[in-house]
Amino acid sequence: MVKVNKFIEQAVQQIKQSIDEKAILALSGGVDSSVAAVLSYRAIKELVIPIYVDTGLMRKGETKRIQEVFGYMNLQIIYAQDRFIDALRGLTEPEEKRKAVGETFIRVFEDEARKINARYLIQGTIYPDRIESEGGIKSHHNVGGLPSVIHFDKIIEPISTLYKDEVRDVARALELPEEISNRMPFPGPGLSVRIIGEVTRDKLDVVRKANAIVEEELLETFRPWQTLAALLGKGTGVKGDQRIHGWIIAVRAVESRDGMTARPMELTWEILRKIESRITGEIPTVARVVYDISPKPPATIEFE
Ligand code: XMP
Repeated sequence: MVKVNKFIEQAVQQIKQSIDEKAILALSGGVDSSVAAVLSYRAIKELVIPIYVDTGLMRKGETKRIQEVFGYMNLQIIYAQDRFIDALRGLTEPEEKRKAVGETFIRVFEDEARKINARYLIQGTIYPDRIESEGGIKSHHNVGGLPSVIHFDKIIEPISTLYKDEVRDVARALELPEEISNRMPFPGPGLSVRIIGEVTRDKLDVVRKANAIVEEELLETFRPWQTLAALLGKGTGVKGDQRIHGWIIAVRAVESRDGMTARPMELTWEILRKIESRITGEIPTVARVVYDISPKPPATIEFE
């Protein structure tokens, strides 16, 4: 704890010394950007402008939660769902979808940055991000990988010496809510990687509800490293006395150390049945629920 408090003190001092005018920060709600935002607020108060982009690809209730947790700051929420849906229209290839989300994110963020006319950018880059981008690995993974076209006079990275578990310690010391300090990974391109094929509003609505159910049932009980629901396609089913062509939802829950490899969790039959009955019961257009038992490799954790 002493080390953590010392880190916080030094980081706040450093931010104070290096920033004397407004600075923007891309806030995703993940632990890294959240910690960077709180440290910056402690240092420079209203001068930090966290920008949160509601892509429409977020989990249930996320935007509202951001407002609750960070609303005391000079927070800007940008509602950009239409731009993301437009950018994704007709795209079915996983890499094209990722690229479309990444580029749209950067464009939306830049439009806002221009309006605010800030010369400084604060980023929640952590130590492994630096290693990964220097090594050229996973470059597409960081949708928050700004800046691109906009020129910033200064880029400040207050947590770039920390590993993930250290960031979580700092988050706890800063009294960020548990759900942020303990948050499981969530991919930058959001729910778009949990929909096979084209992303539409209908599918997003279904997969968002299914993800919420899976998290409600598993996060506290089985404490998976990561858990999710993905929409695979359609299959026939019977609901009431009607045959339907309904969505097939895959549930995934994995144990892992770092996401590089993963093992499927051995859930109980009882919890699997409960998840199935909630998903098919609460989402009328879902006909089928399956549990993914593939390890990584050969499968990845996300579906796309
Ligand atoms: P995969 O699916 O490659 O995922 O086994 C490994 C871990 O990385 C997350 N992931 C992403 N994170 N941008 C991110 O920021 C991405 O494009 C992305 N794709 C996957 C995934 O959720 C898992 O934790």
